Amino acid sequence: MTYEEHYLDWVRDAYAMEKQAESILEKMAGRLEHYPDLKARIQQHIAETQQQQNMVQSVIDRYDTSSSVVKDTLGKLAAQGQAIAGMMAEDEVVKGAMSGYVFEQLEIASYTSLIAAAELIGDEEGARIFTAIREQEVAMAEWLITHLPAVTEQFLVRSAAPGVEAKK
Ligand SMILES: [Fe+2]
Repeated sequence: MTYEEHYLDWVRDAYAMEKQAESILEKMAGRLEHYPDLKARIQQHIAETQQQQNMVQSVIDRYDTSSSVVKDTLGKLAAQGQAIAGMMAEDEVVKGAMSGYVFEQLEIASYTSLIAAAELIGDEEGARIFTAIREQEVAMAEWLITHLPAVTEQFLVRSAAPGVEAKK
Protein backbone atom coordinates (compact mmCIF):
# COMPACT_ATOMS: atom_id res chain seq x y z
CA MET A 1 0.00 0.00 0.00
CA THR A 2 1.11 3.55 -0.65
CA TYR A 3 1.45 6.22 2.03
CA GLU A 4 -1.72 7.82 0.70
CA GLU A 5 -3.70 4.57 0.85
CA HIS A 6 -2.75 3.95 4.49
CA TYR A 7 -3.49 7.57 5.28
CA LEU A 8 -6.96 7.45 3.74
CA ASP A 9 -7.69 4.22 5.62
CA TRP A 10 -6.71 5.83 8.91
CA VAL A 11 -8.74 8.96 8.22
CA ARG A 12 -11.76 6.73 7.53
CA ASP A 13 -11.07 4.95 10.83
CA ALA A 14 -11.07 8.34 12.55
CA TYR A 15 -14.46 9.14 10.98
CA ALA A 16 -15.89 5.82 12.24
CA MET A 17 -14.40 6.56 15.67
CA GLU A 18 -16.15 9.95 15.77
CA LYS A 19 -19.48 8.35 14.79
CA GLN A 20 -18.97 5.87 17.60
CA ALA A 21 -18.08 8.71 20.00
CA GLU A 22 -21.28 10.58 19.10
CA SER A 23 -23.40 7.48 19.63
CA ILE A 24 -21.87 6.71 23.05
CA LEU A 25 -22.05 10.34 24.21
CA GLU A 26 -25.66 10.76 23.03
CA LYS A 27 -26.75 7.72 25.01
CA MET A 28 -24.88 8.86 28.13
CA ALA A 29 -26.22 12.41 28.00
CA GLY A 30 -29.73 11.17 27.25
CA ARG A 31 -29.76 9.02 30.38
CA LEU A 32 -28.08 11.37 32.88
CA GLU A 33 -30.52 13.09 35.24
CA HIS A 34 -28.72 13.90 38.48
CA TYR A 35 -25.26 14.93 37.28
CA PRO A 36 -25.84 18.26 35.48
CA ASP A 37 -22.16 19.27 35.17
CA LEU A 38 -21.20 15.98 33.54
CA LYS A 39 -24.26 16.10 31.31
CA ALA A 40 -23.48 19.65 30.13
CA ARG A 41 -19.84 18.82 29.37
CA ILE A 42 -20.88 15.73 27.42
CA GLN A 43 -23.41 17.79 25.45
CA GLN A 44 -20.68 20.32 24.62
CA HIS A 45 -18.48 17.49 23.39
CA ILE A 46 -21.30 16.06 21.26
CA ALA A 47 -21.40 19.37 19.38
CA GLU A 48 -17.60 19.28 19.05
CA THR A 49 -17.75 15.67 17.87
CA GLN A 50 -20.24 16.55 15.12
CA GLN A 51 -17.93 19.33 13.92
CA GLN A 52 -15.02 16.90 14.05
CA GLN A 53 -16.93 14.49 11.80
CA ASN A 54 -17.30 17.24 9.20
CA MET A 55 -13.64 18.18 9.45
CA VAL A 56 -12.50 14.55 9.10
CA GLN A 57 -14.93 14.08 6.20
CA SER A 58 -13.37 17.06 4.42
CA VAL A 59 -10.01 15.24 4.48
CA ILE A 60 -11.63 12.04 3.16
CA ASP A 61 -13.28 14.02 0.36
CA ARG A 62 -9.92 15.37 -0.78
CA TYR A 63 -8.33 11.91 -0.99
CA ASP A 64 -11.22 9.61 -1.82
CA THR A 65 -13.36 9.48 -4.93
CA SER A 66 -15.35 6.36 -3.98
CA SER A 67 -17.77 6.24 -1.04
CA SER A 68 -17.43 3.75 1.80
CA VAL A 69 -20.05 3.36 4.51
CA VAL A 70 -19.01 -0.08 5.77
CA LYS A 71 -16.76 1.03 8.64
CA ASP A 72 -19.24 3.70 9.61
CA THR A 73 -21.94 1.08 10.11
CA LEU A 74 -19.61 -1.22 12.05
CA GLY A 75 -18.61 1.62 14.33
CA LYS A 76 -22.22 2.42 15.16
CA LEU A 77 -23.00 -1.21 15.98
CA ALA A 78 -19.98 -1.48 18.30
CA ALA A 79 -21.01 1.73 20.05
CA GLN A 80 -24.53 0.46 20.67
CA GLY A 81 -23.19 -2.72 22.28
CA GLN A 82 -20.94 -0.76 24.61
CA ALA A 83 -23.62 1.70 25.62
CA ILE A 84 -26.08 -1.08 26.40
CA ALA A 85 -23.48 -2.91 28.50
CA GLY A 86 -22.83 0.29 30.46
CA MET A 87 -26.53 0.79 31.22
CA MET A 88 -26.69 -2.58 32.96
CA ALA A 89 -24.27 -1.31 35.58
CA GLU A 90 -25.74 -0.05 38.82
CA ASP A 91 -22.88 2.50 38.95
CA GLU A 92 -23.24 3.53 35.29
CA VAL A 93 -22.37 7.20 35.87
CA VAL A 94 -18.96 6.28 37.30
CA LYS A 95 -18.29 3.58 34.70
CA GLY A 96 -19.43 5.97 31.97
CA ALA A 97 -17.09 8.75 33.10
CA MET A 98 -14.22 6.26 33.23
CA SER A 99 -14.88 4.76 29.80
CA GLY A 100 -15.38 8.25 28.38
CA TYR A 101 -11.88 9.11 29.56
CA VAL A 102 -10.46 5.92 28.03
CA PHE A 103 -12.22 6.66 24.71
CA GLU A 104 -10.74 10.18 24.65
CA GLN A 105 -7.26 8.65 25.08
CA LEU A 106 -7.91 6.43 22.05
CA GLU A 107 -8.89 9.53 20.09
CA ILE A 108 -5.79 11.43 21.23
CA ALA A 109 -3.53 8.55 20.15
CA SER A 110 -5.35 8.21 16.81
CA TYR A 111 -4.95 11.90 15.96
CA THR A 112 -1.31 11.90 17.10
CA SER A 113 -0.63 9.10 14.61
CA LEU A 114 -2.71 10.82 11.90
CA ILE A 115 -0.82 14.11 12.33
CA ALA A 116 2.48 12.27 11.74
CA ALA A 117 1.06 10.55 8.64
CA ALA A 118 -0.39 13.82 7.31
CA GLU A 119 2.98 15.53 7.70
CA LEU A 120 4.80 12.65 5.98
CA ILE A 121 2.60 12.84 2.89
CA GLY A 122 2.60 16.61 2.89
CA ASP A 123 -1.07 17.15 3.77
CA GLU A 124 -0.69 20.38 5.72
CA GLU A 125 -4.43 21.02 5.82
CA GLY A 126 -5.02 17.54 7.29
CA ALA A 127 -2.29 18.03 9.90
CA ARG A 128 -3.87 21.36 10.91
CA ILE A 129 -7.34 19.79 11.20
CA PHE A 130 -6.17 16.82 13.25
CA THR A 131 -4.16 19.05 15.57
CA ALA A 132 -7.24 21.20 16.21
CA ILE A 133 -9.39 18.13 16.87
CA ARG A 134 -6.78 16.62 19.18
CA GLU A 135 -6.87 19.78 21.32
CA GLN A 136 -10.60 19.27 21.89
CA GLU A 137 -10.05 15.61 22.81
CA VAL A 138 -7.29 16.56 25.27
CA ALA A 139 -9.58 19.17 26.86
CA MET A 140 -12.41 16.62 27.20
CA ALA A 141 -10.08 13.97 28.66
CA GLU A 142 -8.71 16.47 31.17
CA TRP A 143 -12.20 17.55 32.19
CA LEU A 144 -13.29 13.95 32.73
CA ILE A 145 -10.25 12.91 34.80
CA THR A 146 -10.42 16.14 36.83
CA HIS A 147 -14.12 15.65 37.61
CA LEU A 148 -14.01 11.88 38.16
CA PRO A 149 -13.40 12.25 41.92
CA ALA A 150 -16.43 14.55 42.30
CA VAL A 151 -18.64 12.27 40.19
CA THR A 152 -17.54 9.32 42.33
CA GLU A 153 -18.25 11.20 45.55
CA GLN A 154 -21.68 12.37 44.34
CA PHE A 155 -22.51 8.81 43.32
CA LEU A 156 -21.53 7.42 46.74
CA VAL A 157 -23.44 10.12 48.63
CA ARG A 158 -26.58 9.54 46.51
CA SER A 159 -26.22 5.75 46.85
CA ALA A 160 -26.21 5.99 50.63
CA ALA A 161 -29.29 8.25 50.77
CA PRO A 162 -32.60 6.37 51.05
CA GLY A 163 -34.96 6.87 48.11
CA VAL A 164 -32.41 8.76 46.01
CA GLU A 165 -31.38 7.49 42.58
CA ALA A 166 -27.60 7.39 42.14
CA LYS A 167 -26.86 5.44 38.97
CA LYS A 168 -27.60 8.19 36.45
FE1 LIG B 1 -13.68 13.25 18.89
